[in-house]
Amino acid sequence: MDKLAIIGGRPLYGVIPISGAKNSALKVMAAALLTDEALTLTNVPRLADVDMLLRLLEQHGVTSSFEGSTLRLHAQTIISTEAPYDLVRKMRASFNVLGPLLAREGKARVSLPGGCAIGARPVDLHLKALEAMGAKIDLDEGYVIAEAANGLHGAEIAFPFVSVGATEHAMLAATLAKGTTVLENAAREPEIADLADCLNAMGAKVSGAGHSTVTIEGVDRLHGGEHRVLPDRIETGAYVMAVAATGGELTLTGTDASLLGAAWGVLQETGLDMEERDGGICVKRNGERYKASDIVTQPFPGFPTDLQAQFMALMATADGVSKIKETIFENRFMHAPELARMGAKISVDGQTATVQGVPRLKGAPVMATDLRASMSLIIAALAAEGQTMVNRVYHLDRGFERLEEKLQTCGALIERVKE
Ligand code: EPZ
Repeated sequence: MDKLAIIGGRPLYGVIPISGAKNSALKVMAAALLTDEALTLTNVPRLADVDMLLRLLEQHGVTSSFEGSTLRLHAQTIISTEAPYDLVRKMRASFNVLGPLLAREGKARVSLPGGCAIGARPVDLHLKALEAMGAKIDLDEGYVIAEAANGLHGAEIAFPFVSVGATEHAMLAATLAKGTTVLENAAREPEIADLADCLNAMGAKVSGAGHSTVTIEGVDRLHGGEHRVLPDRIETGAYVMAVAATGGELTLTGTDASLLGAAWGVLQETGLDMEERDGGICVKRNGERYKASDIVTQPFPGFPTDLQAQFMALMATADGVSKIKETIFENRFMHAPELARMGAKISVDGQTATVQGVPRLKGAPVMATDLRASMSLIIAALAAEGQTMVNRVYHLDRGFERLEEKLQTCGALIERVKE
């Protein structure tokens, strides 16, 4: 298993191009299953998760070509409506092939994704939405067996709480349903509007995406199209926090401050100098120690759970005490004991972590536990004194494109150690 060796204490200076959003790419890729024509996606990040979904799509009969960041997918004929355990268990987003397969082929057999390190993560809302659209759903031997022999129909679906995945899944399936589907209490993450843009480019009729009511008027068929994946807001936020922790000045290109939602204001409150630039963001921190700030993770536009771990790393060396409350996932503080190994003072009580800032962290061997937790360790290591060895970096390869290269060009001492 590869490791990353990082020697900390150097400020970051330079330009980092932000990649396309992983969490959008994975959903627009599933949209390719809805049409027998080709879908061309641009700004697709080269990540292990994208490769994994490609493998799954290929076994459904999708042909693909990937050149640079342009991915062409063609689902001319669906050769299998089954998504096997081995491919779904490794990545939950694979589960989103269920709706498109059902909408197009009238049936699908897709493995349940199971829990994961950050929480139980059930899919009950996904299944209820598909049932409301007329699908007959059975569970057997860990698989969801779904049927809609006469196609899906429109439905009014009010989600009891916000779910990104269930909103996206319902949108994908509803595009080919007979009649109109209205989703209430829909997620408002930027990736939802991005999926709607992609589906509309394919001839779907989705309106309201990005608001809490989304309306999808079903159409008989979708056609091919082209769509550019939006910038990765979590990668953007992670690099903002990296330069906040190390000091220096970074220009992040190909991204947009509005994607950060509440995180933008929180980071400004810490004393960071952030400026929107045409086609990007410029972030500076010179000298002064930054101030501690409290956060509560919330669905968009609230502070994203996917930046909570990175924010904790930043708060570890802030001036003052920070309270961090995680409300989305029940087990998303696994980075806390790893940060403590580097000298962070963190106490966790249920869903709240209290971080007492210290002047400096010290490098140590640490273990990456999930994707965003891994990035928090990288941020801590870049700012710490001495060497940190981050073990299990395969988590990072799932979600941060060309991480070492991007950081190295800005002066970071970070090397991959192959094993
Ligand atoms: C997406 O997960 C992202 N993943 C996550 O990013 C992100 O943390 C999350 O949204 C919240 O923003 C992808 O887009 C691939 P949810 P998703 O449905 O869709 C519960 C990363 O690091 N729930 O909004 O799975 C669920 O357990 C990942 O890139 C149900 O109870 O998140 C959670 O507590 C990690 N039943 C809450 O809702 C359901 O049917 C919100 O989950 C669905 C969800």
